Amino acid sequence: MDITVLFKISYGLYVVGCMDGDRPVGCTINTCFQVTSEKPILAISLNKNNYTLEAIKRNRRFSLSIIAEESDTSVIGQFGFCSSRNVDKYADYGYDVVAGAPIVKGVFAGRLILDALNFVDNETHVVVMARLIDTVKGEGTPMTYDYYHRVVKGKAPKTAPTYVESRDSVAQATAPAAKRKYRCNLCGYIAEFDGEMPEDYHCPICKVDSTQFTLVN
Ligand SMILES: Cc1cc2nc3c(=O)[nH]c(=O)nc-3n(C[C@H](O)[C@H](O)[C@H](O)COP(=O)(O)O)c2cc1C
Repeated sequence: MDITVLFKISYGLYVVGCMDGDRPVGCTINTCFQVTSEKPILAISLNKNNYTLEAIKRNRRFSLSIIAEESDTSVIGQFGFCSSRNVDKYADYGYDVVAGAPIVKGVFAGRLILDALNFVDNETHVVVMARLIDTVKGEGTPMTYDYYHRVVKGKAPKTAPTYVESRDSVAQATAPAAKRKYRCNLCGYIAEFDGEMPEDYHCPICKVDSTQFTLVN
């Protein structure tokens, strides 16, 4: 079976936010779609190992921030490659609370506030069906998953439902051989330079500094 046909399915990118007691938690997702139009219900798919799923099971109200091409791309890595179990993902960005759900500060195409209705078990992932209860207008052009891979040159971890080894593993490097390639140890981003990596360089995806990169070639 040619798995690359799955690359033709379009997605957006979102930050899920949920209060875990008095602490905001959340994660990056690309899996969200609208299920019904009347009193809209939406669905998201969460890996069973993700702390965000545990939090939403306890406190059913959560937010989706729709990532824009104009958003700070470091949010994607910060929320997508660390776990809220041991990291305060909001520390560098700040957050507001809208109807009981945290929304990370910054430029986003819009915000949705939802209440989880039910949880559908799908082996490694759980699909959360949720009722839309409020919206906040935003700005910018919604970022597609394709744009994230093609323009931002971002990767996804194995917990993403759409993870594909050939596309998302750090082994895949697209730079011309003459360039020096450095791989981010945290998120797998490949940075290319004509010479040495500048010392003050930071990963555009997850913000770690140049000491967290490994020379690939
Ligand atoms: C681009 C991208 C897309 C992702 N999509 C999903 C997704 O749709 N569902 C999911 O469960 N995890 C997805 N992830 C992975 C989670 O964001 C990641 O496992 C995160 O560390 C979970 O954090 P938590 O433990 O605080 O919930 C994605 C990550 C990235 C970078």
